[in-house]
Amino acid sequence: MIYVCKDDAAPALLTTTRPTAPRRLSPARIDAMPPKRAREARRTDKDDASPSTCTRASRRHARATFPILRDTCNVTNARLTRNARRPPRPDEREETVNMYLEFHYANTMDLFAKGSFVPADALGFAERVTQKAVALGKSRVEDRDTRCDTRVIRALDIGCAVGGSAFHLAKGFDEVVAFDFSRPFIDACKHMQKYGSMEVNVPDEGDSVHPIRCERPCSDAEARKVRFHVGDACEMVRDAEILGKFYCVIMANLLCRLPHPRACLDGLKAVTSPGSHVFIFTPWSWLDEYTPDAEERLDLESLHNEMKERRFEWAGTWEEPCFIREHTRKGQYIVSQAHWYRRAD
Ligand SMILES: C[S@@+](CC[C@H](N)C(=O)[O-])C[C@H]1O[C@@H](n2cnc3c(N)ncnc32)[C@H](O)[C@@H]1O
Repeated sequence: MIYVCKDDAAPALLTTTRPTAPRRLSPARIDAMPPKRAREARRTDKDDASPSTCTRASRRHARATFPILRDTCNVTNARLTRNARRPPRPDEREETVNMYLEFHYANTMDLFAKGSFVPADALGFAERVTQKAVALGKSRVEDRDTRCDTRVIRALDIGCAVGGSAFHLAKGFDEVVAFDFSRPFIDACKHMQKYGSMEVNVPDEGDSVHPIRCERPCSDAEARKVRFHVGDACEMVRDAEILGKFYCVIMANLLCRLPHPRACLDGLKAVTSPGSHVFIFTPWSWLDEYTPDAEERLDLESLHNEMKERRFEWAGTWEEPCFIREHTRKGQYIVSQAHWYRRAD
């Protein structure tokens, strides 16, 4: 049995061959042996002659030793699905981290119900939310007169999850800071930063999973521009001195997850300067789980008013859909509303 994976990035480019069959003894030689040895020899001879035993053993060895990418492998998907049983998970967060890694770094089109059912406009969310900021950053960097202007043009990603958007921001800025409340998410960011890719198990159906490879969307040099840390979006006023000032700030699907969104808006003012841009994306979910105090919740009008009070002028609103795959036939389709503000003063 030979497994060949074609993905160059995967260390799993393996060829496992069926072990060479041992030399078989003639029936006459076995009959001449003492009874106990003859019984053993007959049993070994029978086992070695069974192709299914060899195949199963080499397959088991291959699976245990090498991660195999489903779509680049000549093993059928059905068989991988059946064999790659998800181990028991006491920590739900690992599942969530994997889901976000897939959301930020993988092509859901290849992974969901044969692709054709995924709304194409919902793909690539982690990149889309950075597009305007990257364009602004690039032109600011290009316009800089390097002979006399030593300013570092910086971007901030608040609630960065596993870091996909931060790596896209790195293409347009000198420096990117990205933080999240969740330690496992920041650990995943740092892994992607250091190694450029990661293999994770994602759900198929029921309790079966399969491995996919997530690839960082920027070069090593760009990845080195990003600083990841664990932090609290509601404590940016306190942390403003350490964070410094940013030319662009993005906050994707975070606002309606905060217990104190106004404290976060205060923080936006503390970490920006006149002329800075802020991009807030939100599906306005507001759940008791995250924002128990209903008084804290904002709507479109109150967000505009709160931003205005903090000297941010509204610059545009549009829709930004995304699709988060849960398993092969189930996902969350979310249409966030995007709001662009520019700091006056
Ligand atoms: C719905 S996810 C969105 C993640 C990412 N921005 C995206 O668009 O995929 C919300 C993220 O905000 C983070 N988060 C929640 N509360 C936070 C807080 N107080 N400070 C910083 N991050 C927070 C969560 O850990 C999670 O990564």
